[in-house]
Amino acid sequence: MSLVVQISDTHILPPGSLLYGKTNSAAHLAAVVKQINNMKPQPDVVLITGDLVEKPEESCYMHFLALIEPLKPPTYILPGNHDSPEFMAEFFRGTPYFPVDDETCQFVVDGLPFRILMLNSHCPHSQLPEYPADRLAWLEWQLEQSSEPTLIAIHHPPMVTGIAFVDMVGPQWFAGLKQLLSRHPNVKLVICGHSHMDMSGRIAQVPVYMAPSTSHQLIADRGLDIAPWYINRGAPPVLHQFLGGEFLSGSYYWPEGFEGRRIDDDSGIEWDTLKMYMRGRRKAG
Ligand SMILES: [Fe+2]
Repeated sequence: MSLVVQISDTHILPPGSLLYGKTNSAAHLAAVVKQINNMKPQPDVVLITGDLVEKPEESCYMHFLALIEPLKPPTYILPGNHDSPEFMAEFFRGTPYFPVDDETCQFVVDGLPFRILMLNSHCPHSQLPEYPADRLAWLEWQLEQSSEPTLIAIHHPPMVTGIAFVDMVGPQWFAGLKQLLSRHPNVKLVICGHSHMDMSGRIAQVPVYMAPSTSHQLIADRGLDIAPWYINRGAPPVLHQFLGGEFLSGSYYWPEGFEGRRIDDDSGIEWDTLKMYMRGRRKAG
């Protein structure tokens, strides 16, 4: 078993600044970092799927770096529409977070029972995604190198979501990706962020899991082309558990002070006894 934790859309500003004058995205991220460090067992890896900062400036990335440095598990990042992949390549050079070595700004994470491919869907001078031929060729080459189970992380959702402002660019931007994935059944999961809400879908035969934002959530009415509502509320990390060759995904709260509220402690009944009650007359297996 291996455990991947995903967080997304952290939207960090310089210290002391609030997003939209209201949201303390830094406090929300700091709380999530504590939750991750409290998890038992510890995750094997943390992936942060873009929109790391609100503006791609040094003061924002400095603050972001200070906030994620306490994370205990190995941590990797990728760019979103609010980031600059080129600036990130320079800024994070010499750190373990963004080990890119070419202009596609994509990289591989090895060393787990599956491969992780960290992709770049950033489009210069736009909030909308792109996945041009050089990045697609990099991905094709990587997928040809191994038939190991593979997890792909990308910022923008490579699927039609039914949300007008997310789907605005049309499905063509991920057509090449979809065709490529249809030829690689070893790709088990695609994870993304961007929309500040959770949603599951599919690209070719591969499940897609879209994580909410640690900073703030959006509520978008389906089928109405109006600005989304905004909630000043963080979201828990997402856990992708690799079990039996597949991934199981969902939110995973682990707040501080959790240890004192176990059901065996509060009920006064030992865990082995509780399990016996649960089993009843059923035999194991
Ligand atoms: Fe975002």
